[in-house]
Amino acid sequence: MAKHKIALIPGDGIGKEVLPEGVRVLEAAARRFNFQLEFTDFDWSCDRLLQTGKMMPDDGMEQLKAFESIFLGAVGWPGVPDHVSLWGLLIPIRRDFDEYVNLRPVRLFEGVPSPLANRKPGEIDFWVVRENTEGEYSQIGGRMFQGTDMEFAIQEAIFTRKGVDRVLKFAFEFASKTKKKHVTSATKSNGIIHTMPFWDERFAEMKKNYPDIKADQYHIDILTAHFVRNPDWFDVVVGSNLFGDILSDLGPALTGSIGVAPSGNINPERKFPSMFEPVHGSAPDIAGKWIANPIGQIWSGAMMVRHLGYPEAAEAIERAIAASLVEGGPRTRDLGGNGDTKTVGAAIAELVKTV
Ligand code: NAD
Ligand code: IPM
Ligand code: MN
Repeated sequence: MAKHKIALIPGDGIGKEVLPEGVRVLEAAARRFNFQLEFTDFDWSCDRLLQTGKMMPDDGMEQLKAFESIFLGAVGWPGVPDHVSLWGLLIPIRRDFDEYVNLRPVRLFEGVPSPLANRKPGEIDFWVVRENTEGEYSQIGGRMFQGTDMEFAIQEAIFTRKGVDRVLKFAFEFASKTKKKHVTSATKSNGIIHTMPFWDERFAEMKKNYPDIKADQYHIDILTAHFVRNPDWFDVVVGSNLFGDILSDLGPALTGSIGVAPSGNINPERKFPSMFEPVHGSAPDIAGKWIANPIGQIWSGAMMVRHLGYPEAAEAIERAIAASLVEGGPRTRDLGGNGDTKTVGAAIAELVKTV
């Protein structure tokens, strides 16, 4: 029986509450589909930083190389500046492992009301492909003269031809396997931002290789409006690091809750481990109450097993999530229920055995 080594990083806040539910469902899926997952726990987090001064040990990245995938909860906690916790753990993993695609599905499930009036499942069903290693999230820049009247902050956005082309290529390849075969580019090239005309040129160049795929583009400002007014227009939406970040919170909000949204930080060449985590953060406002929705974490687990080569297990997890929502099973408060994190996780783990 094939065995896969998985690094578990619960991280902070609700990450520690939802990750065990993800593991519970993965274990049930692995039993049913005859493969083994060998989990190793890492306590890398803001708590660890407060005790040891580091989010992860100096050889942390080296340690992670021994794993096929990383399953992460969330990073960040009040009292530790976000730039310290994030640059100390989440961002190095995404960058140093060249996880240049952040794949984030957006899907309205049967039984979950959308905040958009009259929207039905099937009408909100698309993918955000977010560039995950460069763009606006660059390390070039910083703050100077803090506390003086000359104070300023500056950050250079970096778009390389290699970095842009590879994420665009992923988006088109991905769209060649979807039903709608449609890629939309998120841009802002109306003459103000220098990087975006370059992004558009690379997009125009890339689309020539995919004549069967419909390709269009919108400026990011009107694109957010179209997400709300016309979510049924979209299939694969590709965007820069910051645009993709924003679109991948807006999308899930249309599907009921950010709590259901999953993501894969993918190194498509499989040279390094990929990392799977919910889109949401550590949610300090609800942490400790055990009311966080575990579906984003559980669905991220489905993306992970698909990446490991078990599409049937991934589909079963997705069917179990859908079934738990349709059949009036327990649901958490963000979806209007009063179920707790563990009850929802247990219900989905039970469904995955048979659904
Ligand atoms: P957040 O996603 O943690 O929370 C935003 C809101 O959504 C909160 O009201 C929260 O209660 C709710 N929410 C989030 N996940 C939920 C779930 N599973 N079930 C029910 N409700 C849920 O975003 P934030 O408040 O902007 O950030 C909090 C911390 O998390 C910060 O330190 C931030 O940097 C960090 N963060 C980390 C990640 C990550 O690890 N990938 C992602 C986003 C934010
Ligand atoms: C996400 C988060 C992160 C991001 C933060 C916590 C750095 O918002 O995973 O979407 O912006 O990438
Ligand atoms: Mn985000």
